[in-house]
Amino acid sequence: AKERTFIAVKPDGVQRGLVSDIIGRFERRGYKLVGLKLLVPSKALANEHYADLSKKPFFAGLVDYMTNGKAPVIGMVWEGPSVISQGRVMLGATDPKAAGPGTIRGDYCLSIGRNICHGSDSAESAEKEIGLWFGGKGEIVNWAAN
Ligand code: CMP
Repeated sequence: AKERTFIAVKPDGVQRGLVSDIIGRFERRGYKLVGLKLLVPSKALANEHYADLSKKPFFAGLVDYMTNGKAPVIGMVWEGPSVISQGRVMLGATDPKAAGPGTIRGDYCLSIGRNICHGSDSAESAEKEIGLWFGGKGEIVNWAAN
């Protein structure tokens, strides 16, 4: 039940005003927000975050898009039962053209290069990504609802 995942609203999602919708979907589902920040990530952070994709032809463009500062990123840590796999279900397929209606990507986008959001794809990725994006003391808050 203490499972946690990293979810980001990418610059296109922030630019389009989709932050509250995305946060709201996770809140209403019953997941608990334990980390939240707005930032323009450094190149180093984006390179590390997407290290698995470093050989892909779109890697440089992806990192530039995440870091150029035209819009920031919202980084979040969400906690709750099966939040890693269910977070991915809520986001929808990475390629929005394959994302079902009712998912974030299926409702709001069509381009894989502008797919609005990111979610950790495994327990290992979640641990790595939470550690990368949330380092500082007190940045993750353990709290219990009444
Ligand atoms: P994300 O869930 O953040 O994980 C990796 C990201 O790489 C993905 O969403 C897309 O934004 C991006 N990506 C994957 N495939 C392509 C592609 N063919 N062209 C451009 N961007 C891609």
